[in-house]
Amino acid sequence: MSVIGIDFGNESCYVAVARAGGIETIANDYSLRATPSCVAFSGQNRLLGVAASNQMVTNMKNTIHGFKRLLGRTTNDPHVINEIKHLPYQTQSLPNNQIGIKVNYMNEDHVFTPEQITAMLFTKLKDTSEQALKTKVNDCVISVPFYFTDSERRALLDAAQIAGLNVLRLMNETTATALTYGIYKQDLPEPDDKPRNVIFVDCGHSALQVSAVAFNKGKLKMLATASDPNFGGRDIDAILVEHFCKDFETRYKINPRTNPRALLRLRTEAEKLKKQMSANSTKLPMNIECFMDDKDVHGDMKSELEVFPQNHQVPFSKMLTFYRRENFAIKAFYNCDVPFPNKEIGQFVIKEVKPTPDGESSKIKIKARVNLHGIFAITSASLVEKKESAEEEMPMDVASPENGTALQSAGAEPMDQQAPENGEGDDGKEKKDSKKKKQVTKTLDLPIEAYTHGYSQKVLNDYHEQECKMVANDKQEKERADARNALEEYVYDVRGRLGEEEDLGAFIVAADKEKFVKVLDDMENWLYEEGEDCSRHVYVEKLNELKAVGEPIKARKMECECRNAALEELAHRIMMAQKVTGQYRSGDEKYTHIPEADVAKVEESMNNCTKWLEENRALLHACPKTQNPPVTVAAIKEQTKVGYFAVILVFVCRTVRVD
Ligand SMILES: Nc1ncnc2c1ncn2[C@@H]1O[C@H](COP(=O)(O)OP(=O)(O)O)[C@@H](O)[C@H]1O
Ligand SMILES: [Mg+2]
Repeated sequence: MSVIGIDFGNESCYVAVARAGGIETIANDYSLRATPSCVAFSGQNRLLGVAASNQMVTNMKNTIHGFKRLLGRTTNDPHVINEIKHLPYQTQSLPNNQIGIKVNYMNEDHVFTPEQITAMLFTKLKDTSEQALKTKVNDCVISVPFYFTDSERRALLDAAQIAGLNVLRLMNETTATALTYGIYKQDLPEPDDKPRNVIFVDCGHSALQVSAVAFNKGKLKMLATASDPNFGGRDIDAILVEHFCKDFETRYKINPRTNPRALLRLRTEAEKLKKQMSANSTKLPMNIECFMDDKDVHGDMKSELEVFPQNHQVPFSKMLTFYRRENFAIKAFYNCDVPFPNKEIGQFVIKEVKPTPDGESSKIKIKARVNLHGIFAITSASLVEKKESAEEEMPMDVASPENGTALQSAGAEPMDQQAPENGEGDDGKEKKDSKKKKQVTKTLDLPIEAYTHGYSQKVLNDYHEQECKMVANDKQEKERADARNALEEYVYDVRGRLGEEEDLGAFIVAADKEKFVKVLDDMENWLYEEGEDCSRHVYVEKLNELKAVGEPIKARKMECECRNAALEELAHRIMMAQKVTGQYRSGDEKYTHIPEADVAKVEESMNNCTKWLEENRALLHACPKTQNPPVTVAAIKEQTKVGYFAVILVFVCRTVRVD
């Protein structure tokens, strides 16, 4: 069982594993390391990754991409409203304003959520890694933009669960980048020296993240992060597209904005041009043939661009104290700007709160925690029974106690002094607290009811089941297609070879050949007509029918090709045996210890072999190539083995023993 690391991008994904002492990015079934974040649907199956993106132009409405930006959000989110304007596929509003993505799959209308679509992509990545590692993969680490909010993080965890992946950690992309830099660097300053500060800029497909990190040997500290979640490579593409639209309007009198397919092609070409520009400062051409209205278009662009490769935080917890007589609710929200319309993270209701015996407010200790995934939760609440009760009321806003950063850390703030690198920021302090508590107090655990983003376990289970069904269907469809291809291939292969006299043509009589070729022709026609879309077993049966005729022909050819070598081997062995028995008969000293009776046995065995060889050689000689041979190569080899065994037993073994 292996753990994989998934870089889930808006445009493409990468999967990495630690093996052979290094970190390896796995190649997919197209031998590419980048798998497009793209999922498509057809009448028969789903297409995932490269296969989906390859057919985007011809199946625009059912090819889903850019869904990372929809995760965990709702249809009334301004960000979503803006995003779906540019998407060629249809979306709709589900209950609770959840986003539904409408597709035609298996010739029926289906609606999937962004979580489900993401799960489909994860299924592909899981499969890719299992193929590469030749083992089951269940555990993963997934990188996320550091500005991902609670809701987006929970949605991603839900997606992973639907795909049957267990997420060990959601790691901020900024941290992942910094780790990659630090992990192999040999020349970092010593732990007590002045750290080396490095700035990382990750310009992705749709977002920009910048981080400043201080490095010492074996240590990194995230100093600051900043982002523009709405600027990325695609915006550069859009600027180029707009430039060429204007250019083509004036020079060619066409408006590509009115033709979605032309626009998509232009975008693809603009992206290629952009990539070329980042490596060249010379004037670069862009040509698209038959672009629109049967017109070829040409343009060019000269520019300079600098593109950098791409990167967190650690678990964090904080104890909060409240004084309450009855059940109460805590609402958690971001107290800084987040790229999300709703700053609320969730609501947590603390239950079974009771006053002290003398009717005063009880002291309630609450542990607020931002976990490894950057997700916030109230993980425990306890009522502290103490003799003397404090009068002072603490404020209810979770973000306000002490320095007010508890929630900022849920996604907007990188690891800071509250969260040292060992990842367990507060535990030491907690232990001290509990030690103190033990002496004077008794604590009672209280139940917590959480209202946060993300699916319920029931919904997740349903979606997981649905995903498994689709996986099974994809598999079935692949097997069906493979069976059809195998049949088709057999028709072409055998028919072609029957036409060659040096090949199978010589091993079947003319009349039978004619009949068989007709059967193959009919099969080809059937494959393109009523046989276009049959179930797997139909193809398998048809293939077996063809093989019943075709395989014996192939077998005859194979026999014919291997026969001479087998006969020669037998003749050679007989000759070798005759040589040693001859030496024995002429009184060779080497063999004087061997009893006469044994040698006679060998001679008899060799005589039988010779007889067998002569008889069968004659039979084989008389048998035409178009008929099954009376003796097979396997039988000749068997005879060779049996015959020679006697020689070995008598001469070789005994000689060795005497020596
Ligand atoms: N050599 C390059 N020069 C300029 N832009 C590039 C180059 N290679 C990739 N890009 C751009 O980077 C973006 C993809 O970056 P990536 O980090 O993979 O995105 P994401 O993580 O969002 O999928 C795309 O807009 C792509 O066009
Ligand atoms: Mg990226």
